[in-house]
Amino acid sequence: MMAFTKNNSQYFRSIEKAYDLGAEFYDKREWMVFWKKNEMPLILKHLGSHKFDKILEVGCGTGFYAIKLLNKCNFLYGIDISKNMLRTFLRRMPSKFKNKVKVKKESILKNSLPSNFFDLTISVRTFSSIKNIDKALSEVIRVTRAGGIILISDLHPKYQIPYCVLKNPQNKFKIKMPFYRHKIEMIIKKLRQACKILEFDEISIKNVKWIPPRGVSFDEALHDLETPVFYVIKAKKL
Ligand SMILES: C[S@@+](CC[C@H](N)C(=O)[O-])C[C@H]1O[C@@H](n2cnc3c(N)ncnc32)[C@H](O)[C@@H]1O
Repeated sequence: MMAFTKNNSQYFRSIEKAYDLGAEFYDKREWMVFWKKNEMPLILKHLGSHKFDKILEVGCGTGFYAIKLLNKCNFLYGIDISKNMLRTFLRRMPSKFKNKVKVKKESILKNSLPSNFFDLTISVRTFSSIKNIDKALSEVIRVTRAGGIILISDLHPKYQIPYCVLKNPQNKFKIKMPFYRHKIEMIIKKLRQACKILEFDEISIKNVKWIPPRGVSFDEALHDLETPVFYVIKAKKL
């Protein structure tokens, strides 16, 4: 049993430790319903009906997207710094896909991935956990083949939260960790050095189909329906 701190929350400077601890309840949070109803349809729409040969997911976590993407590729490689998130992914994955998936516990910042290799490199809600975004973007560009697609989606930097929170729905214990607010113009500028930007969406609460009930999460966003909460960028490597 974990010792609860006074205000029922604990701050982790280490993103790896935070996700290792949160993996057990990560998929059960109300936020996942929000992403499933609002973010997932948009991302899948941008990926279209195209079948990719090799997909890389950076920060694949428990496989929220990876499992969906398995129908759209011949091979999926997932990397993540949290062993427990990857463990949950492998546990959830239907056995029929076993031969076309490989996961590795590693950071995009220090990886063993080949250059010019993946047809689609996707990363969802992971870049806001990474301080050195310039290096992360350089690596994403390096591993994607010419003509390949890069899709990055994340919490919007205008969304005013002081840190990222994973709230356990059973006991309300909160795991807090750093939230890096990277300027989108900077991400687009970096991508433009090697890619053509194909799509860019900024989604605010007023544009979404479903929000969690008050008090569950998202209360900060509900104060201002105009503020974007997440963004999606789709680019093609030249
Ligand atoms: C908010 S979760 C998103 C997981 C998944 N993409 C999803 O949509 O549910 C962020 C994930 O990124 C991983 N992560 C954070 N920093 C990373 C890094 N430098 N390299 C690879 N993965 C990282 C975390 O361990 C975590 O599993």
